[in-house]
Amino acid sequence: MKQALLAENLCKRYGRGDTGVTAMDNVAISLDTGEVVALLGPSGAGKSTLLTALGLIRPPDSGRIVIDGTVVFDNGYKTDVRAFRRSNIGFVFQKANLLPFLTARENVQLPMELDDISGGKSRRRAMELLEQFGMENRQGFKPSELSGGQQQRVAIARALANCPKLLFADEPTAALDSVMGRKVMEMMKRVAHDFQTSVLVVTHDTRALDVFDRILRMEDGKIGEK
Ligand SMILES: Nc1ncnc2c1ncn2[C@@H]1O[C@H](COP(=O)(O)OP(=O)(O)OP(=O)(O)O)[C@@H](O)[C@H]1O
Ligand SMILES: [Mg+2]
Repeated sequence: MKQALLAENLCKRYGRGDTGVTAMDNVAISLDTGEVVALLGPSGAGKSTLLTALGLIRPPDSGRIVIDGTVVFDNGYKTDVRAFRRSNIGFVFQKANLLPFLTARENVQLPMELDDISGGKSRRRAMELLEQFGMENRQGFKPSELSGGQQQRVAIARALANCPKLLFADEPTAALDSVMGRKVMEMMKRVAHDFQTSVLVVTHDTRALDVFDRILRMEDGKIGEK
C-alpha cells in the first residue's frame, strides 16, 4: 500500500538545560493511504507535539517528514508549508471552533471558498460531506443551535472539505459522551476510507479502539505499536 506519511527521527525539546523537557525523542511514524490510526498515551507523552509537527503547525527541532512523496521537512521546512498544509492537511481539535455567524454548511464551504472553488461546487461538496456525517437536515443551523456531537461532525466535515491526504485529530471526542464519541469516530473512519484520507487520532477513549485500523502508543516522547 502507498505511504501517505513517513516521518523519521523527529526530536523536540521545550526549554533549555536542566529545566528543558524532551517532548519527542527520535519518533518515527508512517501512515498508509486511507489508514485510520489511534495514538494513545498519558498526559505529557508528546502526542499533541507530534500532531502539530506532522500537521506542519509547529516544526520539530530535527528529523524528516515526507507527505505523499514530498519531503516537507528535513531539519527545516522544505516547501511553502502554508500552501502545502492548506491543500494536503486537515486538523480537528477538542473543541469544534466553528465560526458562530455561519451555518453548518457555510462552515464546511469556507475552506473551499478560500481555495477559490466556485460557490456551486463548494455548496454541493459541503452538502455531500454533511450527508456523510448524518447532518444534512441541520445544514442551515448555526453552531449555537447544534449539539456538541453535531458541531464536532461539522468540524470534521470542514477538515475534509479540501480532500486532504492527511487528517489529524487531537482528542476530537473528548467533550462527547461515549456513545456519540464512538459514532463520530466510526463516521470519520468511513469517510476516510471512502476518500482515501489517512487519519491520526489522539484519543483517551479506550472503549472505541476497535474502530481503528491500528493503534500506536506514545510515552515519554517515544512511540511504539500496541
Ligand atoms: N509550549 C510548550 N512549552 C514548554 N513545554 C511544553 C510546551 N508544550 C508542551 N510542553 C511539554 O512537552 C511535553 C509534551 O506535551 P504534549 O502537549 O505534546 O503532551 P500530550 O501527550 O499531548 O499531553 P495531553 O494528553 O495532556 O494533551 C509535556 O511535558 C509538556 O509539559
Ligand atoms: Mg495533548
